[in-house]
Amino acid sequence: MKRMNETPAVVETGAAAKKATGYREAAGREKGLSRRRMRRGEIRPGTRWALVSGAGSGIGRCYARRLAELGYNLVLVGNRREPLEEVRNELAAACEGRDLRIIECDLAREEAARELFDRTQAEGLAIDVLINNAGMFSFLDMLHTPEERIRCIILLHDLTNTLLCRLYASEMARRGCGGYILNMSSYSQWMPWPGLALYSASKAYLRAFSVAFAKEVREHGIRVTAVSPAGVATDLYGLTPRWQRIGLRLGVLISADRCARAGLRALWRGRRSIVPDWWNRLWIPLCKVLPMWVLRPVRRFTMKFQK
Ligand SMILES: NC(=O)c1ccc[n+]([C@@H]2O[C@H](COP(=O)([O-])OP(=O)(O)OC[C@H]3O[C@@H](n4cnc5c(N)ncnc54)[C@H](OP(=O)(O)O)[C@@H]3O)[C@@H](O)[C@H]2O)c1
Repeated sequence: MKRMNETPAVVETGAAAKKATGYREAAGREKGLSRRRMRRGEIRPGTRWALVSGAGSGIGRCYARRLAELGYNLVLVGNRREPLEEVRNELAAACEGRDLRIIECDLAREEAARELFDRTQAEGLAIDVLINNAGMFSFLDMLHTPEERIRCIILLHDLTNTLLCRLYASEMARRGCGGYILNMSSYSQWMPWPGLALYSASKAYLRAFSVAFAKEVREHGIRVTAVSPAGVATDLYGLTPRWQRIGLRLGVLISADRCARAGLRALWRGRRSIVPDWWNRLWIPLCKVLPMWVLRPVRRFTMKFQK
């Protein structure tokens, strides 16, 4: 409780959004960038900071690469150092002149958000773009799900991301130059089906929180976007590379890079919530009303994949 009160108070309202937009435009003019390029998120290389969680693999790695290409210095966050080192080496070779930092941090802990925030503050890094991407999957009936996994997923997807949003948005509002926050939700929020109770509910929370939070902080010039992709070809579900390739070819999965590009495009445009790829949006009403007589045979077939 004491910690919460220590968070920088948000003092600026109303005019702050205009001020932030003015700041972005002035900064862009100073950098000699056209309005069109600015809208796509491009900045003068090395002048601003973005933080990406879960940057060591999958979609997070693609967010990191895209942001580095746009000119951002990066804080790469994850719970294992080696994949983060690999991403740093790859980006250092591809995008010269970026400051690339690594923070190894298990985000599935109550104190993780505060630790990460304090760490970036101590290093004097003013974060302009926050990408809350780290996540883990669970496909298992609740009665068999270990308590530890339930705690991890709710902490990682919900508590940590909520606190990170609050801490960094307070800081962005205090600086008065706006900012961007992207939260990775999931299409599974519309699929509260057997085996997915925990994962889909944790992602439903994140999107609902994100959309309302976006409306609260808009007046400070902060844009918040929830991204809810359906299947993406990454290691999240434990699919082998061969099955990922087949999924891509059949159009059931999209590539991690395509997902990251769609997420960032929506973020720069100030969209509160998106589902990458229009055909996935068509199925949402159907997912919500699927009756048990359809789900029951699917359940019988998919039980063998539960783990
Ligand atoms: N792939 C999909 O089809 C899909 C669909 C909808 C939404 N999403 C969401 O998109 C996000 C990225 O997933 P992805 O597909 O790119 O999967 P991924 O390749 O498995 O990436 C997940 C990342 O999160 C990190 N992470 C996991 N637990 C962590 C913890 N406790 N602390 C810090 N970092 C942690 C992982 O680091 P380690 O590897 O070091 O553990 C990994 O870098 C997730 O939030 C996921 O729920 C994915």
